[in-house]
Amino acid sequence: MKKIYLDYAATTPVDFRIVKAMFPYFREKFGNTMSLHKFGQEAKLSLEKSRETVADLIEAKPNEIIFTSSATESNNFALKGIAFANKDKGKHIVISSIEHPCIMESAVWLEKQGFKITRLAVDKYGLVNPLDVKKEIKKDTILVSIIHASNEIGTIQPIEEIGKICKEKGIYFHTDAVQSFGKIPIDVNKMNIDLLTASSHKIYGPKGAACLFVKEATKIEPLLHGGGQEMGLRGSTVNVGAIAGFAKAVEICREEMREETQRLTILRDKLIKAVLKIEKAYLNGHSKKRLANNTNFRFSFIEGESLVIQLDLQGIAVSTGSACSSMKLEPSHVLLAIGLKPKEAHGSLRITLGRWTKEKDIDYLIKVLPGIVKNLRKISPYK
Ligand SMILES: Cc1ncc(COP(=O)(O)O)c(C=O)c1O
Repeated sequence: MKKIYLDYAATTPVDFRIVKAMFPYFREKFGNTMSLHKFGQEAKLSLEKSRETVADLIEAKPNEIIFTSSATESNNFALKGIAFANKDKGKHIVISSIEHPCIMESAVWLEKQGFKITRLAVDKYGLVNPLDVKKEIKKDTILVSIIHASNEIGTIQPIEEIGKICKEKGIYFHTDAVQSFGKIPIDVNKMNIDLLTASSHKIYGPKGAACLFVKEATKIEPLLHGGGQEMGLRGSTVNVGAIAGFAKAVEICREEMREETQRLTILRDKLIKAVLKIEKAYLNGHSKKRLANNTNFRFSFIEGESLVIQLDLQGIAVSTGSACSSMKLEPSHVLLAIGLKPKEAHGSLRITLGRWTKEKDIDYLIKVLPGIVKNLRKISPYK
């Protein structure tokens, strides 16, 4: 039985080089970074080395990296932390309509606390128009938060232009870079980014480690109050081993990013070309401004879930969209935002590639998919 994983946007297996790098932290280097003895000092040293490595990838300073337990935590921290620290200046926040649920839900919660949220529309490719950002910035706006690359349709936003507008207007700019970090070069200074979310388990590191880049002098409230860890911005005993794994993942991405992007782009485009030969199959998202590892298709007259199940029976793991929303019965808010009808959104399938995707895996998928689509259409009540 084949076992082909094509759901790298949901999570990635841990690279064995990273497992090896983490190993000493379970037994030898297990100390608490806040302890004064040698065990503690050793852990603290490792933590600060990891901070330098992660900061380096995005041209940040080490003291601008706050380690967290997940991207969900980082995104909550960014939105709520900025909102509460700057509410005297204003209570208006701008986000896009295609953010990850952890931004969307944080925004809903902030509305309940009296903040005003503007959700920007996107075009049919999922692109935010920077001029719309400019138009929506009002006197009481304190934060703009726009996802860098969509976890569902892979569209890459014009982050640099949006950052420039925010800088000119003196507004904090946050980007959720979970899907782009380690895959696309990011320079927080050139792109005028004040806050950026990144995560380890999307780049072959362990789960339980992520970070929020917070530019020096940014006014932000901690989410977790505690023992003063992470420059007093995030209480909790630090998960040094997972963070060392995160740093190793960053190191490998830095070395392999360029070649990996080229390799995956070729595989992605081969897959897109083949799938679009299927009758009434369409690509969701932009053909060029998209992540090298992302494809998202829709097929008329079929449910995405049925496709996922049928492909799973053939040994291929894919998804209908964000792993966090795949259990919900509602159509994806991202696909609705790009103008799809609920029925079209329900017929969508996300196939995401990664470090261990081989050409033969794509060839196998290309071989089995048309037959599955044909069979499902035969029994489709929509047809
Ligand atoms: C763009 C984006 N933001 C945030 C998250 C949340 O990550 P986690 O569930 O690891 O906290 C994800 C995970 O899929 C994501 O893709």
